[in-house]
Amino acid sequence: MRIGILTGGGDCPGLNAVIRAIVIKSINKYDDEVIGILEGWRGLLEEKYIRLQKSDVRGIIFRGGTILKTSRTNPNKIPNGIETIKKNIEKAKIDVIAAIGGEDTLGVAKKLHDAGIKVVGIPKTIDNDLEGTDYTFGFDTAVNVAMEAIDRVHSTAESHNRALIVEVMGRHTGWIAIESGLASGADVILIPEKPFDVDSICDVIKKRHDNGKDFTIIVVAEGAKFKVEAEVDGTMILQDMEKDAFGHVRLGGIASVLAKEIEKRTGFEARYVILGHIQRGGTPTAFDRVLATRFGVAAVDLIHQGDFGKMVALKGLQIVPVPLEDALAKTKVVPDDLYSAAEVFFG
Ligand code: F6P
Repeated sequence: MRIGILTGGGDCPGLNAVIRAIVIKSINKYDDEVIGILEGWRGLLEEKYIRLQKSDVRGIIFRGGTILKTSRTNPNKIPNGIETIKKNIEKAKIDVIAAIGGEDTLGVAKKLHDAGIKVVGIPKTIDNDLEGTDYTFGFDTAVNVAMEAIDRVHSTAESHNRALIVEVMGRHTGWIAIESGLASGADVILIPEKPFDVDSICDVIKKRHDNGKDFTIIVVAEGAKFKVEAEVDGTMILQDMEKDAFGHVRLGGIASVLAKEIEKRTGFEARYVILGHIQRGGTPTAFDRVLATRFGVAAVDLIHQGDFGKMVALKGLQIVPVPLEDALAKTKVVPDDLYSAAEVFFG
C-alpha cells in the first residue's frame, strides 16, 4: 500500500512520534510505501511530497514540531480545493491518507472520506478539545510546561505580595488551565466554560489578604469570558478581529486586562504572564510520546483492516477506532466534576 501522511493545524509535541510510528510499523509489518505530504493540506494542493524511509524517522521521537511541517490551509476555502486534492491523490497513486490533526484537519479528512477518498484520522491538539478520545497527544506536554511556569511565578508572587496571572492556551475550552492550575495549586482558575465577573475575583484576593495570604495565583484560559453585569455568556478578549482559514479568531490578552482591573479595583499590585507558544514547542512528555506512538501503530492497523473514515482514540487504557463524524460532532469541554475538584482549592 502507498500511505500518505500529513500533519495539519497548529503543531504540537508528539507529531514526530506519530510519524515515526506509522513509518516503522507500515514498512516493517506490511512492506508499505510511505509518502510524507508537506505542510498539511497545502501539500496535497501543491503536490509537495517526500518519500519517507525508516532512516528519515530515526531519532525524532523526542523532537517537538513536525518534520512534515504544517499549515492552517483549508481546501474548502480554495476554489475546487477538494476536487484538486482528490485529483492529486490519484495522480500520486496514494491509496490512503493518514491525517494527523485537530478538529479542522479532521473535518477536511471527513469531507474527503465522504467524497470517496480513503482516510484515517489521528487526533492531536494541545487543547484536548476533541470529542471521542479521552486525551489528544500534545496536551500533557502543554499542561506540564504550564505547571512548571506557574510553580515558578509562585515564589515571586509571594515575595512581592502580588496577584500573578498566568494565561494559558486552549482556545474555547479550559483543559490546559484546569489541569495545570490544579497541579500547581492555583488560587483561582478561570475557564471559558464558566464565565466570571471581575468583582468576584477581587473579593477572593481581598479575602486572602484579610487572612494573611498576601499573594494570589490566578490561571486564566485565553478563551475565558468576562461577565458584565447581568450577562450570562460573557465576553472574550481577542488579539484582533481577523479570522484564520477555518474561521478562528486569535485569542489572547485576557491576563493583561484582568491585571489592570484587579489593580484598579483592589489597590493591590498585579502582574501577568502569557505563556503562548512556549506551551506548544519543545520535547514531548513520556505520556505524549507513548500516546502518539500507540495512535500511529493503531492507525496502520486500521488502514490494513480497511476501516476508513475513523479516528484512533484513547478510551480508558485502550486505543479504539471512532467514526470521524462522532469525533467532530461537538467540542469536548471541561466537565463539571473536574471543575468542582479544582474549585475546592480556590480562595
Ligand atoms: O489549537 C492550538 C492552539 O495553540 C490554541 O490553543 C491557540 O488558540 C491557537 O492554536 C493559536 O494558533 P496559532 O499558532 O495559529 O497562533
